[in-house]
Amino acid sequence: MCGIVGYIGQKEAVKVLIDGLKRLEYRGYDSAGLAFIKNGDLGCIKAVGKIVELEKKLNGNITHTNMGIAHTRWATHGAPTFENAHPHIDCKSEIAVVHNGIIENYDYLKTKLKREGHIFRSETDTEVLAHLIEKYFHGNLEMAVMNALKEVEGTYGIAVISTRDKQKIVAARKGSPLAIGIGNKEYFITSDVSASLEHTREVVYLDDNEIAILTTNGYETKTMENIPTYKKVEEVLWNIDMIEKGGYPHFMLKEIHEQPQALRNAMRGRVDSCSYSIRLGGLISHEKVLREAKRIVIIACGTSWHAGLVGEYMLEEMARIPVEVEYASEFRYRNPVIEEGTIVIAISQSGETADTLGAMREAKQKGAKLFSICNVVGSTIAREADFGIYLHIGPEIGVASTKAFTAQIAVLYLFTLHMMKLKHAEVPVNSDTINAVQSIPDKIQSILDKEKEIVELAKIYKDSEHALYLGRGYNYPVALEGALKLKEISYVHAEGYPAAEMKHGPIALINKDMPVIFIATQDKVYEKIMNNIEEVKSRGGRVIAIATEGDMQIVKKVNHVFYIPKTSDVLTPILSVIPLQLLAYHMAVMRGCDVDKPRNLAKSVTVE
Ligand code: G6P
Repeated sequence: MCGIVGYIGQKEAVKVLIDGLKRLEYRGYDSAGLAFIKNGDLGCIKAVGKIVELEKKLNGNITHTNMGIAHTRWATHGAPTFENAHPHIDCKSEIAVVHNGIIENYDYLKTKLKREGHIFRSETDTEVLAHLIEKYFHGNLEMAVMNALKEVEGTYGIAVISTRDKQKIVAARKGSPLAIGIGNKEYFITSDVSASLEHTREVVYLDDNEIAILTTNGYETKTMENIPTYKKVEEVLWNIDMIEKGGYPHFMLKEIHEQPQALRNAMRGRVDSCSYSIRLGGLISHEKVLREAKRIVIIACGTSWHAGLVGEYMLEEMARIPVEVEYASEFRYRNPVIEEGTIVIAISQSGETADTLGAMREAKQKGAKLFSICNVVGSTIAREADFGIYLHIGPEIGVASTKAFTAQIAVLYLFTLHMMKLKHAEVPVNSDTINAVQSIPDKIQSILDKEKEIVELAKIYKDSEHALYLGRGYNYPVALEGALKLKEISYVHAEGYPAAEMKHGPIALINKDMPVIFIATQDKVYEKIMNNIEEVKSRGGRVIAIATEGDMQIVKKVNHVFYIPKTSDVLTPILSVIPLQLLAYHMAVMRGCDVDKPRNLAKSVTVE
């Protein structure tokens, strides 16, 4: 989704901005642009398509400027065209603005500004900001931005420069993340710290309704009422190697292979094998709330929602607490009932997903206690929750989420064990439950070691236009996730279904051209799923089964088998999803798709 980079310092700004934009490419975008001030004039270069197109327009020209702002745009209002790309400029070409978010009253503002004589050049909501700032400009840029934003409804993270108040970048935030990177006599404003990580790990996160003023001498932060705020400087725990491919052709493949280590990191220091207890630092001072919880509602989007479904099954089965899992986008607008004793868990890799954040705010207003499971430290969701747990798996760059899914399930499992203890569940946490999760990273590795088998399967099925994924129990969310992975990156139409539901509709689709992927591990619904396999086979379907090592019975019934090691039913999703991630990856590569930047998708969806 849209990305912002701003720079002011001693270096060649355009180079810093282009490098920063490249770090944001993974978020998904369709056009890019940058603006700078040189010899007192505003320069602006924009291009449709990839950053490389923007570089072509620069044509190697060094601009010799020390400050500027840049943007990658993911179209919302208006097609991805040159005119609609950011930065947007005022009538007199004195002000340039880049913006993430959505201005909800832009139509009204645009009509009003046009009536006042402002000339618009694009179809975007953002352009109204440039004209509004122009309207309120009386020599001081931050005052103009503050006054302009008073008229604006919606969400924004913006960065603004002006030839009339030079050597200054003004940024403001409401609902769309921004962080100041603090370097050596240089300052950055970014929507994602990856863009400035090459230069500094020291950052200050802006809060909603805050404004920042960056100059070569330092930075200031204020409220929108012009009252100074004092912010904590935080250190980003990621380093530059973690946001590079490390020899892999794609981030997605790197992240699939990182899973054994990612899960070790997610569990480090959290499992006490002697006392069979779980230490989750973020929950320590909230045990009373957790012990007294009567109900849990999990809200999330996309892959995180699938992890939430696994969480529902495990929390209900093991900790015996009622759980519902909701799409955040639905929850926030349907006036949900939140009684006393409800804990709302927001699951989000990025911690910035607008729908999840909106749903959290709705739940908070209704009195729920908010608990977050996020990966990105310092993200908005993590900061707005009452308490939470981080995944600690390093940055996830590939748009298709992989290591976050398995780590979310591992963390939900630890949380479930913790809840079992707190709620005195009938079944105790014991060495089996602890050992089961500790042996998971090695088991993932043994699956990754058999990647070649998946490559062979991908060769056979790469030209399929449809695929059906079926699972039951704990493997039902895996069926959904397997289908999502395939459609996201290879554009093959794929459906995930609970296997028994197949006969209520999808069975009509079965034919020899559509592979049916059954996740058929030896769990308590194994016999049931074998019947579903028979139903597909008897209609001429071609079946790929993900099965438990040692299951010889299944070989006779299906076209292909991929074995995964045995584990407890509840942890199976962490293993059974790995071959499905690999299958989606290899099919996408064989189909010539851009795996890390799939069309139309964004890594972090910061608009509703
Ligand atoms: C986007 C991404 C998905 C992700 C979803 C939720 O759609 O492409 O991979 O699962 O957002 O993101 P979150 O950061 O909240 O987990």
